[in-house]
Amino acid sequence: MLAKVISCAVVGLDGALVDVEVDVSNGQAGFTIVGLPDAAVQESRERVRAAIKNSNFSYPYKRITVNLAPADLRKEGPAYDLPIAVGLLMASEQLRFDATRTLIIGELSLDGIVRHTNGVLPMAALARAQGFKTLFVPAKDAPEAALVPGLDVFPIETLFALVMHLQAMQPIAPYRPAGDFAPETAPTYATDFAEVRGQEHVKRALEVAAAGQHNVLMIGPPGAGKTLLARSLPSILPNLTLEEALEVTRIYSVNDMLPSDSPLIRHRPFRAPHHTISHAGLVGGGRWPHPGEISLAHRGVLFLDELPEFDSRSLEVMRQPLEDKTVSIARASGSLTFPANFMLVASMNPCPCGYYGDPVKECTCSLSNVLRYQKRISGPLLDRIDIHVQVPRVDYEKLSSDRLSETSETIRARVESARERQRKRLAGTLLQCNGDMGPAEVRQFCVIEDAGKNILRAAMQQMQLSARAYHRILKLARTIADLANSDKIETPHLAEAIQYRPRKQV
Ligand SMILES: Nc1ncnc2c1ncn2[C@@H]1O[C@H](COP(=O)(O)OP(=O)(O)OP(=O)(O)O)[C@@H](O)[C@H]1O
Ligand SMILES: [Mg+2]
Repeated sequence: MLAKVISCAVVGLDGALVDVEVDVSNGQAGFTIVGLPDAAVQESRERVRAAIKNSNFSYPYKRITVNLAPADLRKEGPAYDLPIAVGLLMASEQLRFDATRTLIIGELSLDGIVRHTNGVLPMAALARAQGFKTLFVPAKDAPEAALVPGLDVFPIETLFALVMHLQAMQPIAPYRPAGDFAPETAPTYATDFAEVRGQEHVKRALEVAAAGQHNVLMIGPPGAGKTLLARSLPSILPNLTLEEALEVTRIYSVNDMLPSDSPLIRHRPFRAPHHTISHAGLVGGGRWPHPGEISLAHRGVLFLDELPEFDSRSLEVMRQPLEDKTVSIARASGSLTFPANFMLVASMNPCPCGYYGDPVKECTCSLSNVLRYQKRISGPLLDRIDIHVQVPRVDYEKLSSDRLSETSETIRARVESARERQRKRLAGTLLQCNGDMGPAEVRQFCVIEDAGKNILRAAMQQMQLSARAYHRILKLARTIADLANSDKIETPHLAEAIQYRPRKQV
């Protein structure tokens, strides 16, 4: 007899329907799975056989064929165990139900317990888009699936429980989230801006960057506080909107990186990969393409400490995502696109010894060494960084003073209100903040007056700025005006934005 159950695959970050067809017929006993399955799917046979027996159903010693369709869609991982087991019970006439309008997902353990599966959020989103009403998912993943409204999500503990439910013997109640997703205890951060002495201009630069999602590069001698400042950055980042949170959660769901206590990522990601990271680790890739750090930092921060130590080839491939805010990974089977709308925060020393330009300690590098070191970061990459800021050494008086500076909470309140202004202005577009604006929005929203135009013209000529720099300065000036609660971009806002552009150092 033939049975058909519907399940789901994840391609990139999107779900795709998979028909699981199970045929049980007379002939030599065996179990074959066809339809481009990978090793984990092949091993499904063993798990399904044991799970069926250990759930007190009878395993048919007949000729079993499972087809996962469409055949040209790559199927990865163990999420088909549960639909295969259900199909097998139907095909061997131990279970009868209408499987055409339900979606079943789950990995089985040998004793029939349904285990956690990656990528449940995109699968639930697909179910809704395709008009499915009922979704059976591992119990542990039900809160994640329930992030998609309008579905009956049934949390499944075991194969036996699912069969009892389908036969209406022991119905399972659909999962209802305990409340709104909003309740939020204030997160605690390891470091607060108040702990960082001096460096007020760097804090200001980071505040501007956080307010509009602009890229920052901090340059300074060893021990000046670059890493400390960057690590304090999460404490002033604005909250994620629900829409943004869902985008981020989808990426973490597919990468199996969701926190165990919450189905939703509530805080902006802060990713700080080490400089030994591989190309694929940074931008994404692999045989089954997975999102890389730049996608994991989506809507948050990618912090590259000691920027010149990173492999220059890896840095160069970030150029396209830094402009497009997405990354495309080409594979023989077609190309996949992941979101990568992140804020780049980088730090570096001005030279190999670290003291070039330091007023106290003498630099021991030759000029050619300094040049070579700085050249490791290409011009096009530097051009994409809106804010270049020097982090000089802090002197004893500042360091030893007891006066605490502004707390992160105060700064964050300003960042939050600047974001709110941006959201209001950009309502009706798909954009969330000034950093997202393209040339059309820049023309519409970043209008400057004549005095400003003159300053900008002079700066373009003197600093030999590119067209990209021109647009980026306008966006930055818009954020600085937003922080000042100003609807207009005034001359001082523009002047501050220009001053963040890189100058020749050597
Ligand atoms: N402005 C500062 N206020 C308070 N403490 C500071 C400051 N700058 C540095 N420190 C102290 O020095 C330590 C080292 O600073 P940090 O690692 O941020 O330096 P860095 O600029 O990243 O240096 P490197 O270029 O060597 O990486 C900090 O953990 C902190 O204890
Ligand atoms: Mg450091």
